[in-house]
Amino acid sequence: MGKTINFKDTYPSAITLFSKWAEIGKDEGMEKGHAKSVNFMFDKLKPFLQTPFSVLDVGCGNGWVVRKFKEIETCERSLGIDGAEKMILKAQSLDSENQYVCADILQWSPPQQFNIIHSMEVLYYLKNPSELINTIYSNWLNQKGCFIFGIDHYTENLPSINWPMECGVNMNTQPIDYWLTNMKEAGFKNIQHWQSGAKDEWMGTLVVMGEK
Ligand SMILES: C[S@@+](CC[C@H](N)C(=O)[O-])C[C@H]1O[C@@H](n2cnc3c(N)ncnc32)[C@H](O)[C@@H]1O
Repeated sequence: MGKTINFKDTYPSAITLFSKWAEIGKDEGMEKGHAKSVNFMFDKLKPFLQTPFSVLDVGCGNGWVVRKFKEIETCERSLGIDGAEKMILKAQSLDSENQYVCADILQWSPPQQFNIIHSMEVLYYLKNPSELINTIYSNWLNQKGCFIFGIDHYTENLPSINWPMECGVNMNTQPIDYWLTNMKEAGFKNIQHWQSGAKDEWMGTLVVMGEK
């Protein structure tokens, strides 16, 4: 589905790039830059936060969203996974209450299933995002679980199109329909999407949510 993306072998992996970003403090810029979109996503998740829940943040960076979930009274367990070692070391140095795992998302199996799975600005770094979306649906979410993700890099968001070259990292540039179709094909129900924070040329964060 969608056009084939030729990832350049010459680019470092996203994991390598973001470990460097953590070293030079750029994780904090992401935390600030992504806050509005993540707040929007938390708002959409409200119906799922009323009763006790467990949550996994996929590509958690320095873990700020893991900690944000844990501030909610009904949050029983909040876990983060990221492949960038320096991001995870930073998360662990900031917080000993919640758990942070350093692993490649595609090589990892969670210790349990979750009520909520969240991911901000991660999915387009994957060569084949449908692999992860299918795994989340089939294995990582429990019955009636909910998956929500946000991405700023997508075909319709023209100001983001040059990012792979500007950042020197592979990105899977796909249109909104690609993401919705992948969710549908994985089996998700009640799929909704929004473009949060659109202004002028900026088409906003594409937020996609689906239920099991
Ligand atoms: C743009 S950052 C977003 C971090 C965090 N979600 C935030 O909003 O601050 C993308 C993150 O995804 C992680 N990542 C990308 N591909 C990954 C993979 N295959 N396995 C694990 N983590 C990955 C990177 O290490 C990086 O920390």
